[in-house]
Amino acid sequence: MKSKIKSVLTVTLVAAACSFATVSAQAQAKGKPWPAPESAAKVKNPQASNAENLAEGKTLYMKHCKSCHGAKGKGDGPKSANLDVSSGDFTTVEFQKKSDGELYWKTTEGRDPMPSFKKKITDDERWKIIAFMKTLGEK
Ligand code: HEC
Repeated sequence: MKSKIKSVLTVTLVAAACSFATVSAQAQAKGKPWPAPESAAKVKNPQASNAENLAEGKTLYMKHCKSCHGAKGKGDGPKSANLDVSSGDFTTVEFQKKSDGELYWKTTEGRDPMPSFKKKITDDERWKIIAFMKTLGEK
C-alpha cells in the first residue's frame, strides 16, 4: 500500500516538473491571432521574385528586420530576446503558406512591439522584402 502511494506521488511530481518545464520554454508567448483584412491578403505582389529584386529585398531585410527576426527568419535576432512576444519563425510551412498580401499588410501596419514600416520604407521596397522572406522556408 505504502509503495502505491509513493508511486502516485512520484507520478504527480514528475508531471508537475514537466508542466513547469513547458511553461518556462514558452516564456515568450506567441502573439494573439493577427489576421490581415481579406482584401489586403488578396493583393498580389507587384514585384517579381527575380534575382535583382530578391537581392534588394535581402539587403533591406538585413537592415530593417534582422535585429528581431534573425538573418534566417528564425525569430532569433539580438533584439528579440527583450520582447514579450515571440517574433515568430518565417521558415515554417505555416508561415510560408501566408499570402504575400497578408505579409505586406502586416509589415506596413506593424503591431507593437513590431514597428510600422509604412513611412520607413517605400511600398516597392516592402514588396521586395516580402519576396525575399518567401525564400526563407525550410529546405
Ligand atoms: C522590434 C522588433 C521587430 C522588427 C525590427 C521587425 N519585426 Fe516583424 N515582428 C516582430 C514581432 C514581435 C512580431 C509578432 C507580433 C505579434 O504577433 O503581435 C512580428 C511579426 C511580423 C510579421 C507577421 C508574422 C506572421 O506570422 O503573421 C511579419 C510579416 C513581419 N513581422 C515582418 C517584418 C518585416 C518585413 C520587418 C522589417 C521590414 C520586421 N518585421 C521588423 C518584431 C519585429
